Amino acid sequence: MDICAVVMAAGNSTRMKSAHSKVVHQVAGKPIIKWVADALYKAGCSEQVYIVGDKQEEIRNVLGESVAYIFQEKRLGTGHAVMQAAPFLEGRDGYTIVLPGDSPMVSEETIRKAVDKITEEEELAAVVITAVAEDPTGYGRLVRDGSGNVLRIVEHKDADEEELKIKEINSSMYVFKTSLLLSALGRLSAKNSQKEYYLTDTIGILIGDGYTVGSVVCDFEDTLGVNDRMQLMQACQIMNRRILRKHMANGVQILDESSTWIHCAVEIGQDTIILPGTTLMGNTVIGEDCIIGENSRLDCVQVGDGTVIDYSVATQCIIGNDCRIGPFSHIRPDSRINDHVTIGAYVEVKNSSIDDYSRARHLTYIGDSTVGKNVNFGCGTVTCNYDGQDKVGCVIEDNVFIGGNSNILSSVVLGKDSYIAAGSTITNDVPALGLGIGRSKQVNKEDWVAKKNRLRGASFIKLDNRRSEV
Ligand code: UD1
Ligand code: CA
Repeated sequence: MDICAVVMAAGNSTRMKSAHSKVVHQVAGKPIIKWVADALYKAGCSEQVYIVGDKQEEIRNVLGESVAYIFQEKRLGTGHAVMQAAPFLEGRDGYTIVLPGDSPMVSEETIRKAVDKITEEEELAAVVITAVAEDPTGYGRLVRDGSGNVLRIVEHKDADEEELKIKEINSSMYVFKTSLLLSALGRLSAKNSQKEYYLTDTIGILIGDGYTVGSVVCDFEDTLGVNDRMQLMQACQIMNRRILRKHMANGVQILDESSTWIHCAVEIGQDTIILPGTTLMGNTVIGEDCIIGENSRLDCVQVGDGTVIDYSVATQCIIGNDCRIGPFSHIRPDSRINDHVTIGAYVEVKNSSIDDYSRARHLTYIGDSTVGKNVNFGCGTVTCNYDGQDKVGCVIEDNVFIGGNSNILSSVVLGKDSYIAAGSTITNDVPALGLGIGRSKQVNKEDWVAKKNRLRGASFIKLDNRRSEV
């Protein structure tokens, strides 16, 4: 069967008030236009042509070269948009799916239903996908005769009082017999309140020709068009709710639907708990029995099983099994944290690998470094990986114990089983089994306070009143 799709995406996105085309804005981690393309692919339609306008580069960047593009020079309406595809459609005798580029909720099932209907019911010239809206304001309305047959579509701005009462709306998604679509497009006029060539008028024209037009009613949510920021928020919320429900159906526990945001490509294992305020982005994959959150953001992170991540941010990194991350940890790109590792409060890790059972529980920076197994970072350890020009970390071998408040300079190797004395600045390698001390020796001056008459006693200092009066 010859089936192709025309997607209208040349609009100016005026109501979105954005420097970008509305169709490249993201819903659940995927650009709106990509949702449309993927629904078409899933419904079995791979031949897709996109009607694009001034912002076409952005759309090409999202969809790539596996689909076709046609430039619509002037935006004269949805009918005019589809007319631009005429050279592509002429001579074909199958069916054409027409979709708006701004409807991310469109489902493959709905497209399939409409395609099945038009292919099974010979007499149909077109199938309109409709929905019943509680508040149909702004949408085109489906006008039917007394027996329920489709007669035409009237735009909100052109509708009379009776027509405005109709709750069945035009989703702007259709399947046409290609030859009849072309014939109707050739007869559109812009004699309406918006002076545009309405695609919706093709339906009335085909009925006038004596053809029959069918309809498929879908869920109103599936038709949501994103024209402004309010609708973008609604689309994000609806899509997010669907994604959360899918994870819950798969055995993931989610405590709060309203503060948990999960992108469409994220995978989560069974019995993992997602606490409030958590955002999981990109292609993040989380194993089983983890606890993520509260208030954590993971972007393209791979997490093993049994790991707990609390009030933390992680980006483009790998975290293994049974790790304890947070509160307030920052794991930056290209970090690889193996199993049973503890990364605690105010610890930042960047482009480093940390092997099993190592611990950095507080106030530590590990950058560009290689850390072995069972290493202990004392509070306040810093790998001094940046000399102002180059970034080179250090190598810390298995079982090293680093005392608190130590600086380990670029390229230094701390040998296996060595110790670093607290407060050291280590500039040279420390041999295996050795102790590195890099600090000045302590000197005690006996009775210094008495001799200098510096006894402080119990002097109480009045604190500033830092709080506003209630
Ligand atoms: C359209 C329908 C309306 C339907 C609603 C559903 C018409 C006349 N109206 O109205 O019946 O209820 O969708 O959401 O079709 N576009 C172009 N070139 C143009 C004009 C528009 O490519 O010259 C594209 C837009 O980028 C958009 C799509 O067509 O992706 C729909 O256009 P839009 O202006 O959003 O139509 P609505 O007013 O929503
Ligand atoms: Ca729209």
